[in-house]
Amino acid sequence: MSRPPADTPLEGRRVLLGVTGGIAAYKAALLARLLVQAGAEVDVVLTRGGGHFVGPATFEGITGRAVRSEVWEDIAAGTHVALGRAAEVLVVYPATAHTLARLAHGLADDLLATSALAATCPVVVAPAMHAEMWQHPATRDNVDLLTRRGVRLVGPAEGPLMGGDEGPGRLVDPEVAFAAVTAALTDAGSGTGSAARTATAAPTATAAPTAPSGPDLAGCRLVVTAGGTREALDPVRYLGNRSSGRMGFALAAAAAERGGEVELVAAPTELPTPPGVRRTDVVTARDMHAAVTARRTEVDVIIKAAAVADFRPEQVAPRKLKKDRGAPAVALVPNPDILAELGAARGTADRPVLVGFAAETDTAEDNGRAKLTAKGADLLVVNDVSATDAGFEVDDNRVVVLDRRGGRQEVALASKRVVADRILDAVVAWLEGPRGG
Ligand code: PMT
Repeated sequence: MSRPPADTPLEGRRVLLGVTGGIAAYKAALLARLLVQAGAEVDVVLTRGGGHFVGPATFEGITGRAVRSEVWEDIAAGTHVALGRAAEVLVVYPATAHTLARLAHGLADDLLATSALAATCPVVVAPAMHAEMWQHPATRDNVDLLTRRGVRLVGPAEGPLMGGDEGPGRLVDPEVAFAAVTAALTDAGSGTGSAARTATAAPTATAAPTAPSGPDLAGCRLVVTAGGTREALDPVRYLGNRSSGRMGFALAAAAAERGGEVELVAAPTELPTPPGVRRTDVVTARDMHAAVTARRTEVDVIIKAAAVADFRPEQVAPRKLKKDRGAPAVALVPNPDILAELGAARGTADRPVLVGFAAETDTAEDNGRAKLTAKGADLLVVNDVSATDAGFEVDDNRVVVLDRRGGRQEVALASKRVVADRILDAVVAWLEGPRGG
């Protein structure tokens, strides 16, 4: 396991670590160790379920502090609210489906739940459960409630689960949760903790992922594109990319919740249509080009989160290419650059507001700034797709939002739903700002 960086914002900070009942609870000991090594004072609340998987002695040995489980201990000291009030960040790792439901609905049925209700600090929640439980509409609703309230979801990851299962629901690694806790504290840098008070001002603005968002897109018409386009080679094969559609779907869901009238143009994906969103399914870059440009003059904002194939095979073989005929020579021709065309067609007008993405692997921001100008966009969201904890296919992202007036805003690692809200904050600010840039 890697050690946390020496220059850590966790020095002297009060972290409340809630450990609930899943097989992955053993990883909470590793997270506790990372936090302690980084200088944090870590209080552990172990739920009854968590205690079935890992014992208090492990955490007491690591943190040097008493582990609490019961509301009924030390009534005079008001333990049921004291830990939550004192915490500068609450992290629930792992969080079971049951705990997500309890947190979402404000239950107060054990010490972790009462602590969470008393906490006014940032809250980081790392879900872990079987894939069906994670995908169940009840859990989806609970997750939506929590993220809308500003709770930071980290994970779950996809991979092997208990009992030989596989899929989304795997607890993120302790290092990922550690980074989310650090980001939560850094983003709440104007808070009351000692490190916050002594932190030097960041050279650039950092979005505060805990700020709740209202219906500030009411009356606004948006097109959001999502997923990776596919370009056929023959009837069974295609050129594609790793985009899962999650970032674009999160944007569409968030925009609809904020009152926007959202049309989602989706490349092939299994993701369900978010509530209140109209969806058009497309396959190729040219399909997407047609669907988006048809709406160009009708909408206020176009957000291009899709990963569009820059090239397509010149010829699509009418029948499946046969292996025994040797490797085919595939000539590629360029696809239309949808965003660049939208930028050129708009000219000096200020609508629709154009929001591009840049999927980069090196010198990300420089390349992003160049794309912003070249494609005539207003805002450009840069993500480093060489990261393993953000970008393609995972539930989280970490982005920098650039605008063509030179503005720059970082959004630290958070669930794509939370990142989507921060991107939409930038869109709303742009819509409300001076026109014509
Ligand atoms: O779908 P996920 O798994 O959640 O992953 C999210 C994501 C990494 C795909 C997303 O965050 C992202 O970065 N999307 C843009 C990917 C991309 O195609 O980037 P690009 O740098 O190649 O393109 C720049 C911009 O031009 C993009 O807005 C793209 O939609 C647009 N473009 C690109 C090519 C083309 N022919 N037409 C376009 O409109």
